[in-house]
Parts: sequence; C-alpha cells; structure tokens
Amino acid sequence: MKERELIGPFKQLIPMTGLGLKGPITDNKLTILEDAGIVVENGKIKRVGKFQELKKIENDISIHELHGNHTCLPGLIDAHTHICFGGSRANDYAMRNAGKTYLEIAKAGGGIWDTVTQTRKATKAELVKKTTKLANRHLKNGVTTIEVKSGYGLSVDEELKMLRAIKETNEMISNDLIATCLAAHMLPKDFEGNQTEYLSEISKKLFPILKEEQLTNRIDAFIEESAFSAAQIAPYFEKAKAMGFDITVHADQFSTSGSEVAVEFEAISADHLEASTPKEIELLAKSNVIATALPGASIGLGCSFTPARKILDAGGSVAIATDHNPGSAPMGDLLTQAAILGTFEKLSNAEVLAGITFRAAAALNLNDRGQIAEGLNADFIGFHTDNYQEILYNQGNFKPCMVWKNGKLVFDKHK
Ligand code: NIG
Ligand code: FE
Repeated sequence: MKERELIGPFKQLIPMTGLGLKGPITDNKLTILEDAGIVVENGKIKRVGKFQELKKIENDISIHELHGNHTCLPGLIDAHTHICFGGSRANDYAMRNAGKTYLEIAKAGGGIWDTVTQTRKATKAELVKKTTKLANRHLKNGVTTIEVKSGYGLSVDEELKMLRAIKETNEMISNDLIATCLAAHMLPKDFEGNQTEYLSEISKKLFPILKEEQLTNRIDAFIEESAFSAAQIAPYFEKAKAMGFDITVHADQFSTSGSEVAVEFEAISADHLEASTPKEIELLAKSNVIATALPGASIGLGCSFTPARKILDAGGSVAIATDHNPGSAPMGDLLTQAAILGTFEKLSNAEVLAGITFRAAAALNLNDRGQIAEGLNADFIGFHTDNYQEILYNQGNFKPCMVWKNGKLVFDKHK
C-alpha cells in the first residue's frame, strides 16, 4: 500500500473545527463539508477537501473510495472510564434498585471496596484480557481514545499492577488508552482512619515509579465524604503538581467542594458535578477547568444529570464521558449516554458532539485529536447516512460502520 491514502467521498464531513472551547454552540456554527475526502499520510491528516478535487491533484496515492452515503465525524473520545477491573457488581445494582443508596452500599463493604477485592485477586494478565475486551467494544462504537483510571488497587503494588496492565493493553489494541492514577479513589481498609498516611505513602513511593516507567502523567482523586476531603487532598495534589503531573478531580458527585479544589489546583478537568450549585457552576465557568459530565453514572445510580446547560450558559466548557465502571456506570456506551444527556439538558447537536470530540480531547490535555484537520491524528469514523443529525437523533442506536485510527481502517461493518 502506498504511504498516502485518499478516503471518501463522505456526503457530509463534520470537522468540528472553528468552534470555541468554552460556552454554548448552536448547530448553525457547525462546518459541514459536502462530498469531502481526507488525505492521510503516516497516520496523520494531510489534507481535507472536495473528494473529486483531491483525486485530481494528489498523485501517487492509493484511493479508498466509499459507495453510498456516509457522514464522517472525528473519532470519539471517552475522557473518563474505569474499564480496568476485576469481578462484577451486579449485586450492587440489585441492592440500589431495592432502595439502598450508593453510599450506604459502600459503607456496608460493597461498592468500590468490593471491586478492589476482586481486582486485587486478578492477575495482570486477567486485567489485560478484560480491559482489551471492553476497549474493543468501545472501538466498534467509534471511540478511538479512552481514558482509563487505576483506583481499584489502592496500594503501591496493586496500583502498579493496574497501571502496568493498562499500559500493556494499550500496546496491543487499536484505540489509545490514556492512563490516570486514581490511587486516591477511597481509603483502603488497611489504612483505616489514616488518610494522611495513605496519601503520603502513595505520593512518596508510587509517584516516582509512575514517572520512571512512564505509566501515566495524570493524578486523580475522589473528593467526597466517603473518600477524601479537600484538606486531605491539598498536600497530595501539591506534590503531584510539583512533579509535573496533570491534575483531574472526581468532584461534586454527591456533595460539593471538589470543584473548588479543581479550580484552585488548575486541574485539567473536574468530573461528575451532579451536585454542583450555582456557586460551583460560576467558579468552573470562569476557570479553564473542563467540566466533564458523566451521564452513565446518573443513569446507573438514578440521580440527576450534571447541569451541563447551566455550565455552558455560564461560559464553561463541557466534555461528556461514560465513567464506564463496574459499579455506578456499567453500560459504557458513549454515543447513547451523550445523546440522552443532550435530551435532558437541552444541548444542541453541536454541543454534544463537541463534548465527545475536541472538548473531550481538551479534558485530557491532548491537542493532537478531536477534530478533522491538517496535522492531527487521522482518527475518524463513518456513519451510513447523508445527514449528521441522524446520529444523535437515534440516541446511540445508530453506530458507526467504519472506524479509522491513525489512518488505518480498524473496524469495517461491511466486512
Ligand atoms: O466515577 N465516584 C467514584 N468513582 C467511580 C465509581 C467507581 C465504582 O463505583 O466502582 C465514579 O463513579
Ligand atoms: Fe469515575
């Protein structure tokens, strides 16, 4: 195969370019390129334009000509998941629906701790196998980049096992996994009552190894009554920042204070925010922190959605992710959840698509993806339609038929 390839024509191509990182976006702001083609070279996008013109001017190029109507979007980005884990929490789901709350189940020894026990029992190879399976499912749904957190190990060795499993999986699969260290997910039972000692052990012993083995450049913490307080997390984040890690926060899921910490530490993103009040919304909107809505957790727990409309109207930036995890968000279908959030929060097509493409890239501090533009990674997806509106209108029941990652066709439903 020649190094350069022309792919198209796409009846509609939505590059998601020229749109602001913050604030509302109306659909009439979307650029729609008609009968478009993409020239790919060495895994990057070299040119975007009219397919027939590109065909005339590009020499020495292989052509992947599409037949029928297709609409092209950037590869989707799921900026918050926990898809590396052992076991299942089907019983939590049953208990929640029988009336117990997420926090009650956690206090009774279920919840996150249950998954920690199961994950500690799993071998690294077992974690790789399970994470691969879930990442492949996301790939077929058009997700070319997935953030994956540790946080079910909760000791130096067990967190390392998880992060090494994520790194190994990443080397074997087509989509990119962006790892995050969530050792501050909850206080492990082994440290009962001593948050400070646990966090200081993690920052002293684990942080240097994360750098040494290049396992992740991102540190996350769950700031919540059942996990860590703002005061306990401050020295932990200070240490992480001093070592050059990016910060991200599980914030305002059930009670507030996490988003304030996110703003104070100039986190890349604050995720959840279901409990954010006008005060937190204002604070986030004025900052450069991306607000990541996690509709999968709202659907899983049966609670309210992140106030995405209010955050956008206040001038903030909203990304949308699945939070795919065995407890609160087992579904893990980005397109479905983003469409549902759009319906409940009255988001435009453009705002929803921005939340799972370039605004999601920003939530991961990545500037090489999330749009279809010259020089960016050639990550894009095709749907069998001549109208991009069909995609979210079908609320996730309409999946892509083709997925390209770094210019390679890695999923083709026609075959
Ligand atoms: O983002 N909120 C805390 N952590 C995860 C849930 C993980 C779990 O329940 O296993 C979340 O929802
Ligand atoms: Fe989460």
